Amino acid sequence: MHDIDLTPDLHQRFCAALTRASGIRLGENKRTLVETRLRKRVQELGLADTTAYMGWVFQRDNLAAEMPVIINLLTTNKTDFFREPAHYEYLRTRVLPAHLGGETFTFWSAASATGEEAYSAAMLMAEHFHGAPAYTILGSDISQNVLSRARKGVYYANQLRDIPAHLAAKYTVPGKNAKGHEVFRITADLREHVRFSPMNLMLDSYPVYRGFHAVFLRNVLIYFDEAVQRQVIGRIVNHIRPGGYLFVGHSETMQVRDPRLIQCASAIYRKEQG
Ligand SMILES: C[S@@+](CC[C@H](N)C(=O)[O-])C[C@H]1O[C@@H](n2cnc3c(N)ncnc32)[C@H](O)[C@@H]1O
Repeated sequence: MHDIDLTPDLHQRFCAALTRASGIRLGENKRTLVETRLRKRVQELGLADTTAYMGWVFQRDNLAAEMPVIINLLTTNKTDFFREPAHYEYLRTRVLPAHLGGETFTFWSAASATGEEAYSAAMLMAEHFHGAPAYTILGSDISQNVLSRARKGVYYANQLRDIPAHLAAKYTVPGKNAKGHEVFRITADLREHVRFSPMNLMLDSYPVYRGFHAVFLRNVLIYFDEAVQRQVIGRIVNHIRPGGYLFVGHSETMQVRDPRLIQCASAIYRKEQG
């Protein structure tokens, strides 16, 4: 087993910097994880060990420039197509049918990771609107790495099992990647409806549209402390139109106490009509 050279003090200082930049909290029990995830970066920079890396990071001016790399390495980007399927069922059977025609349906996946969430929703909207250009989707995340993967819309073939077969047949194209692995790509038509853009939920105000019909903010609040969770929810709700919907992860419902929201199903809230 590899010894950890990262001391508790340095770990704490490093994690405090990460929390300030991203809201993500990593406790003392994540010291091995931090060291493991940083190892390749330490080698890339030709440094002796994580302690040397921390010395370099905390030198004047290095921290800000290095932070996007740190965020790429330390965010947990686990996601799946149609994860927490009850949410997609609600979107398909309740939210979309109630939408008035003639107006573009606007959807935001606010911690999109590699894009599976945004493309899953896109498939349901393409079905609902029968291919008409009546919907638009924004995916955003703090990690630049995941966003460049999301924009490509290429996934390993084993992820196909998460997509209902009739949707996979219509909205994915099989192929092989440069290494010869079986992959599939989201069709160009569907990709055209989805835009990915970097955005940090810690910003004081969000530079995005203010009238979304539905926002997915799922499995990201868990990384923040309670005060940050409240602030993030408050800011997100500012971007939902009256009568629009907020979906959070099923394990995150306790955090939602914004007075403008009314719960309508498990981990699904509606903004009051105003
Ligand atoms: C576990 S994934 C969740 C993906 C997807 N929403 C889902 O439920 O499957 C959490 C994502 O939140 C992103 N994230 C963490 N902190 C963030 C922040 N401050 N601003 C925006 N995105 C953040 C991470 O980069 C990661 O991709």
